Amino acid sequence: MNYKSLFRKKSIHDIHQQLKDQENSDLHGSLGKHLGVKDLAAFGIAAIIGAGIFSTIGKASFDGGPAVIFLFLFTAIACGFAAFAYAEFASMVPVSGSAYTYSYVAFGEIIAWIIGWSLIMEYAIGNITVAISWSDYFTGLLEHGLHLNLPQWIQMDYFTAYNGYNEALNLVEGGKVLTQLDANIQAAHSAWTTAPTIGSFHFVADLPALFIIILITALVYKGMKESRNASNVMVVVKLAIILLVIAVGVFYVDTDNWNPFAPNGVEGILKGVSAVFFAYIGFDAISTTAEECKDPQRDLPRGMMWAIIICTILYVIIALVLTGMVHYSELNVGDPLAYVFEKLDLRWMSGIIAVSAVVAMASVLLVFQMGQPRIWMSMSRDGLLPKRFSKIHPKFKTPSFSTIVVGFVVAVPSLFLNLTMVTDLCSIGTLFAFVVVCGGVLILQNKPDIPRGKFKTPYINGKYVMPVLLAVAIVLSFTLNKQATVNFLTNERQLVAATELLTSLPNSKVKELKSAVSASDSANFMLADGDLESYLMDLDEKQYVQTLKELKVNEEVMYESGFNLFKHKIPFYIFAIIALLLTYYSVTHNLSLIPMLGLISCLYMMSELGLSNWIGFGVWLLVGLVIYLAYSRKNSRLNIKNN
Ligand code: ALA
Repeated sequence: MNYKSLFRKKSIHDIHQQLKDQENSDLHGSLGKHLGVKDLAAFGIAAIIGAGIFSTIGKASFDGGPAVIFLFLFTAIACGFAAFAYAEFASMVPVSGSAYTYSYVAFGEIIAWIIGWSLIMEYAIGNITVAISWSDYFTGLLEHGLHLNLPQWIQMDYFTAYNGYNEALNLVEGGKVLTQLDANIQAAHSAWTTAPTIGSFHFVADLPALFIIILITALVYKGMKESRNASNVMVVVKLAIILLVIAVGVFYVDTDNWNPFAPNGVEGILKGVSAVFFAYIGFDAISTTAEECKDPQRDLPRGMMWAIIICTILYVIIALVLTGMVHYSELNVGDPLAYVFEKLDLRWMSGIIAVSAVVAMASVLLVFQMGQPRIWMSMSRDGLLPKRFSKIHPKFKTPSFSTIVVGFVVAVPSLFLNLTMVTDLCSIGTLFAFVVVCGGVLILQNKPDIPRGKFKTPYINGKYVMPVLLAVAIVLSFTLNKQATVNFLTNERQLVAATELLTSLPNSKVKELKSAVSASDSANFMLADGDLESYLMDLDEKQYVQTLKELKVNEEVMYESGFNLFKHKIPFYIFAIIALLLTYYSVTHNLSLIPMLGLISCLYMMSELGLSNWIGFGVWLLVGLVIYLAYSRKNSRLNIKNN
């Protein structure tokens, strides 16, 4: 194999030529141009504010306390740096491929393919998560708002019902009464036992998730104008409700709740990285509409920046209001906004919040469901996916075939799986794309022969700032918490966190723990698996060690050391090595500061996402590479061009 050809690049001139050819082709014609800067900013806000702020922010505030606002600000700055890089590329190559096409220009085909493949994590997998959350909020709204109880078997996924049913059986066999069990277990039991069956197969499926994906897919298929109008309406509704939440909530803020402001220090704040970053994902998706903008070179950069600025202001205020209304330690819940208002006996507000969540998540679904087919369309135009993926509907002027395939790819798993845990994978895939796009700007920085767009990231020479930043980071980590830094570097043994502890223990020991904790906690029902985990997580370090000792958990199991401990630090060391190299290159090559900071901050957030996510993402990339080598490489249009 000729390894050099893996990195063959597309020239900007070719991309512009391809766009012109596209316009003249019947089957693969051009998309309709309908979008201005306001629509783009609205699409950005539509994609950003969704499941993140309505659910995952609860746990992030619980871990970090009110100081979680610093994480929001840090993430906004990191996303802002990345947005500069996206904007520069979007103005240089205003086509639908977004980060995929940008990497084709800057790094070459294989990296472009990898980015295209990673973006499936962001858009399609992200949408599976959002569709499932949407369904939860929607059924809750029907139940509490309209007193309409859908049968459990049409609002739950198959595996949750199956596992819950078995757990209920075990508990009942252990002497418990069904009605005393945890509400989720009861719901799963009911779903399984009331579902229609074919032989031994129980038809349990999340139908509302299917319904919303069909609806959104139909809208996106029908046309950009219709999608734009729907997105604009949804954004107005959700912004109005969020402003109302803030306006009402402010009156209930008790500033005593902000004390302590950072109860668990920097470590606590950083636990929320994935959740907070997930809440920002989406502004980049608007770059996939480049071919449908009236003036993409001018409007795309502005649209992205406005979206980030508006959402950051709202997020910081919401976090302050939330942690001011109740003590941060009460916020470890799945629906924090609704929870705080219910707690203060403002039930009508929690109903309004549920409506807003349903609208907000639908708007996220809309933008992602629009972004994914456009990336596939671009990959297909380049020959990396079959030709049909770039088919444009003659009347609706949308990538029709790709849109339908994305509908299936998102709807089927949302129906049957419980993928709410994949937000981390969605975050890691997106961060990876951000890192590569920032890297792309750095690569092209010193190539004067590349035709530029109208927008250029302001140039600040990184050689003066990067070494200083590096020195400050090192000095701070040794002065603020010297012991922790030394322990980290010397790989000193560490307490195992509750989640890992429970997975490493044999089932019988976990059962024993559950019984012991249930008895000691005077709970009137047996703790379920998840409850045991959160019980242990709520303890402070001293109580945690004490509890485990009382329950006779072995010291070897309680502590991690050696390679078992070191392996979790590998993502951080990868980050550190790349940061050192970049600092060196910033001095030797006068690298531009903003994309460099974008790259480093996004890579840092990736390193905070944990080894298991890196492994999961690595496996995903390997699958992608196999497809690339087996199909895409052979069918690339660059083969034809070079022959
Ligand atoms: N930012 C989007 C959300 O929070 C993905 O739902």
